[in-house]
This record gives sequence, C-alpha cells and structure tokens, in this order.
Amino acid sequence: MGIPQGEIENTFERFYRVDKARSRETGGSGLGLHIAKSIMKLHKGEIKIISKEGVDTEVRLFFPI
Ligand SMILES: Nc1ncnc2c1ncn2[C@@H]1O[C@H](COP(=O)(O)OP(=O)(O)OP(=O)(O)O)[C@@H](O)[C@H]1O
Ligand SMILES: [Mg+2]
Repeated sequence: MGIPQGEIENTFERFYRVDKARSRETGGSGLGLHIAKSIMKLHKGEIKIISKEGVDTEVRLFFPI
C-alpha cells in the first residue's frame, strides 16, 4: 500500500506504525523494521526503503562484500 514520504524514517522507530487504526486489523507490533535495521548495522550494511504511497514498498538490504 506504500508509505507516505514523510513517514519512511519513522518506520524504523521501535513500536512505530504508520496507520494506528490498521494496527488492530493486521496485527504486528512495529518492531520488524527496527530489528532489521539493527541487524544490518551489525553487518555494517544498510537498509533502505523506497515507497510510493498507495502503490508499493521496496526494502533494499545492502551487505558489504
Ligand atoms: N511493506 C510495507 N508496506 C507498507 N507499510 C509498511 C510496510 N512495512 C512496514 N510498513 C509500515 O511501517 C510500520 C513499521 O513496520 P514494522 O515492520 O517495523 O512493524 P509492523 O509490521 O507493524 O510489526 P512487526 O513488529 O510485526 O513487524 C508498519 O506498521 C507500517 O505502518
Ligand atoms: Mg513488519
């Protein structure tokens, strides 16, 4: 469904969910992306989100090799 441009960085915060109403419907605790970012940091890598509101979301993981 996409994430509004101004919310993308917030999604990495612990317990942050863009749509508070949707949270009860779809479950989830708002931890997934925070944990993913922590893991990428431990790999000295990066995580990037490219998203278009109402369209789709792409998550890119960069591992140093
Ligand atoms: N693929 C996606 N498309 C649209 N919005 C997303 C997507 N992934 C995450 N989000 C938004 O970012 C918020 C934070 O995502 P995150 O994965 O950290 O938590 P969650 O999916 O709500 O719960 P969980 O802890 O189970 O992963 C979500 O609540 C949602 O609003
Ligand atoms: Mg999640």
